[in-house]
Amino acid sequence: MTIKFNFRQRCIFNCLAALSIAFTAGPLVRAEEVPAYLRPNLPIDTRVRDLLSRMTLDEKIGQMVQADSGAVTNAADVQKYALGAMLSGGNSKPPENNPAAWSKMVDEYESWALKTRLKIPLLYGVDAVHGHNDVIGTVIFPHNIGLGATHDPALVEEAEHVTALEMAGTGIRWSFAPCIAVAQDERWGRTYESFGQSPGLVSEMAAAAVRGFQGRELSDRNDSVLACAKHFIGDGGTEDGVDQGDTVGDEATLRKLYLPPYRAAIRAGVECIMVSYSSWNGEKMHANKYLLTGVLKQELGFKGFLVSDDAGIDQISPDYQDAVETAVNAGVDLAMIPRGPGETNSYIEFIQDLKASVAEGKVPLTRIDDAVSRILWAKFEMGLFEHPYTDDPALTAAIGSAAHRQVARRCVRESLVLLKNENHVLPLSKTIKHLVVVGEGADDLGMQCGGWTIAWQGGMGAVTTGGTTILAAIRRAVSPETTVTYSPDAGGITNADAVVAVVGELPYAEGKGNATELNLDPGDAALVEKAKASGAPVVTILLSGRPLIPGSALDNSAAFIAAWLPGTEGQGVADVLFGDCRPTGKLPREWPRTADQAAANDLTGEPLFPLGFGLTY
Ligand code: BGC
Repeated sequence: MTIKFNFRQRCIFNCLAALSIAFTAGPLVRAEEVPAYLRPNLPIDTRVRDLLSRMTLDEKIGQMVQADSGAVTNAADVQKYALGAMLSGGNSKPPENNPAAWSKMVDEYESWALKTRLKIPLLYGVDAVHGHNDVIGTVIFPHNIGLGATHDPALVEEAEHVTALEMAGTGIRWSFAPCIAVAQDERWGRTYESFGQSPGLVSEMAAAAVRGFQGRELSDRNDSVLACAKHFIGDGGTEDGVDQGDTVGDEATLRKLYLPPYRAAIRAGVECIMVSYSSWNGEKMHANKYLLTGVLKQELGFKGFLVSDDAGIDQISPDYQDAVETAVNAGVDLAMIPRGPGETNSYIEFIQDLKASVAEGKVPLTRIDDAVSRILWAKFEMGLFEHPYTDDPALTAAIGSAAHRQVARRCVRESLVLLKNENHVLPLSKTIKHLVVVGEGADDLGMQCGGWTIAWQGGMGAVTTGGTTILAAIRRAVSPETTVTYSPDAGGITNADAVVAVVGELPYAEGKGNATELNLDPGDAALVEKAKASGAPVVTILLSGRPLIPGSALDNSAAFIAAWLPGTEGQGVADVLFGDCRPTGKLPREWPRTADQAAANDLTGEPLFPLGFGLTY
């Protein structure tokens, strides 16, 4: 049995371990020549204090900057400005997109950080939100809404553990995940990043995901990456589901709906939390000292660091210095900045403005020291000072391995929610004579994966990565005697024993995904109708980031499955279609009956399917 310790317990252990070394090792003669912060056997707080005492204001402010690789036009800036962190935002990639190129790029930036006077390693982050999804060749898992439908925290922990392994294989030790939004209004284009609409389910999944990413110890560099719970707080509660909008309501409601997952994530040991772009009752979260410092850091005892969302600070005020000052005073420790030399609100400007604010006495040095200590603490805990580089080729070789894909396939199987199964049309027989597959979603990995897949907004077709489409999985599953015909537009269906229609939303991510209408595309509804006209029973598989109003497609289908955005492992869909596994997924959100009901976010009337609904066979 493995005993897991939380963050505080680990701090106490570190102190005890160091004390016992001091007592048993006798006088630390030669060790005194090595600065305390470089001695891994010392307690982390001693190392942090020692390092902080050696840092200039410039070096401290540099630590508080996370620059996007797309903005750092000259890698030497990492040394010049003593930058503390970098990221590859949604569309920032190395020139070639493969695991080796990612490792090389990250190691290159790291080498510049290690050229600084104090050799403080760089923290590098990416949005590994459903697998290590920026990198071609990795395994892409279902988006969180699908993971929520599994109601299986142990599986979610395993999935994020695989993601951590694949990240470590590219030298990246920090993921901006999990998103623990409790999405209320599904018109929000990020609904699929939310595990579900109830705080209880999201809390359970939040803790599981953090455990999966961070593993037993953050210092286990081969199977642990720093998790980052996001976006604090109320991101999924904005009025009309507007992205980056305003969450309106009293504090009791805010706490009841959106705070529990943060409590759970902190208890599970999360050491980074990202601030939300959204506002609460008109005040930008990046400026909200009461919630960031008062509630999160003081009341909940969050000891990790708070990172801003990308250019989130800029939204506080048109006067950038004022915005920087407000955010830092509110409790933001690390500023994520997508702009570089020659651009407004660049990381250079942030450094100059924050320095000026400190000189003017508007940001106290104690606040700077607190922010930097939190960031350094994470770096020490992760063992970055001892092991700043990727150095395990076995991890790189395991990226996209069959074993990793197997975990994702299980996630897919468990995420499918069977909404209708008339006359027990499912499971289909593997020896069915003639199966016709229709709909462009059947043979499109990009559509199957959704947004945040290779590109920020995702993309259709083979622009994405390796994997198995639903059509390929069906072909693999059936007997050699079965004929599978693929007719994307459902034209010319003859002598079919059953038709599988794969329809749904085209890929999107934040911003682009905001919707006012949530009807199934009329073209998709027509396709299902056309399939039904063939006389064969139709099994509809819906690929979507949220419930859609199915209209006639539900009536025209004998069976209807919500498959969410399953990712690269289409075989998980075939496993359920052909009865290798019984469907077990349950709705993580209510399914509205009408577009009006969805648009008004008014589920007080009968929903089409209630929360927790899911048939089986
Ligand atoms: C998103 C975050 C993401 C960040 C970095 C922002 O636009 O809101 O969720 O982590 O970009 O890519």
